[in-house]
Amino acid sequence: MRYFITGGAGFIGSNYIRYLLNRNHNCTILNFDDLTYAGNLNNLSTINKDNRYSFVKGNICDFQKVDEAFDQFHPDYVVNFAAETHVDRSITNPDIFVKSNVLGVQNLLQVSLRHEVKKYLQISTDEVYGSLGKTGTFKETTPLDPRSPYSASKAGADLLTQAYFHTYQLPINITRCSNNYGPYQFPEKLIPLTILNCLNGKKIPVYGDGLNIRDWIHVDDHCSAIDLVLHSGLPGEVYNIGAHNERSNIKIVKTIIRILGKFQPGLNISEDLISFVKDRKGHDRRYAIDSTKIQKNLKWEPSIPFEKGLEITIHWYLDHQDGLESVITKDYQLYYDKQYGKKIS
Ligand SMILES: NC(=O)c1ccc[n+]([C@@H]2O[C@H](COP(=O)([O-])OP(=O)(O)OC[C@H]3O[C@@H](n4cnc5c(N)ncnc54)[C@H](O)[C@@H]3O)[C@@H](O)[C@H]2O)c1
Repeated sequence: MRYFITGGAGFIGSNYIRYLLNRNHNCTILNFDDLTYAGNLNNLSTINKDNRYSFVKGNICDFQKVDEAFDQFHPDYVVNFAAETHVDRSITNPDIFVKSNVLGVQNLLQVSLRHEVKKYLQISTDEVYGSLGKTGTFKETTPLDPRSPYSASKAGADLLTQAYFHTYQLPINITRCSNNYGPYQFPEKLIPLTILNCLNGKKIPVYGDGLNIRDWIHVDDHCSAIDLVLHSGLPGEVYNIGAHNERSNIKIVKTIIRILGKFQPGLNISEDLISFVKDRKGHDRRYAIDSTKIQKNLKWEPSIPFEKGLEITIHWYLDHQDGLESVITKDYQLYYDKQYGKKIS
């Protein structure tokens, strides 16, 4: 089985490539990634020498390059992780989000159709559904109501993917997953950022009142769901993926502080590090995903309890501090200072 994986040098893509290689002896993988600031080949250093795996640097917006890669590789399956993914960056720089997340996806769909792939899987997000009040959950039938340039670009990609199914009968699936955590995540996101700042004795920025709620899932559980949908999902269908772990941002931050304080008693890690900063524009209040459909129809279920998964993740970052520090470039520092204000860095 030949997998064309885009964005495989990022957080979830690199975990999925490792997941496939560990479980599937007959797979051959081409990782097609443009190595933006979020893409890092070190995320794949443990499998670099595996002869089932190869890498091509390229942008999904470049039709010719994608087409040539398909010509040479002849993929059975396409799994598209490639995207600009950070909501904050989409607020300050929306155009790249439309280019990569919408136009790039249309390119991939067109090339996939031309090469008659067995399945195209679009990795989407629960953020396309918008924001919830105190109650309720997102179902696959919930109307799309994206509210940030990031989620709007992902919703646009979902609609294009469905259009390629209805118009051209391209066999597709779309998965919409909640917030992921686990190893190899770029440190601009809440969990690795909190860990890194705790270890460096830096203030931890928390937006607004900290009570925005996200629904968390370990990246390995996301990977098992993706693989199941790729092989067993009914063509044309959307599947929500989540593990029923709603937590407020402030609760996540306090939990990390508590666990790290226990693991690193010499570092004086305490809640004094928390710094509430001006809220994100249009900040969605609450996400909660209903994944009954994949659980019932495809017999999937998450296997990693949140508190245990978080402890394992924190341990992993403690063991890989050099890797975490090495992605902090001058550009990232400039972005960080602009985003949160120099006073808290
Ligand atoms: N992280 C989450 O919690 C989460 C939750 C649900 C869905 N998703 C979706 O999962 C996918 C992967 O997310 P992630 O957190 O791993 O992202 P990430 O930012 O860690 O990685 C994105 C990868 O895509 C590559 N890329 C970006 N633009 C590209 C382009 N134009 N051409 C080729 N490569 C390009 C980057 O170099 C990087 O390797 C995204 O589509 C995202 O919308 C993420």
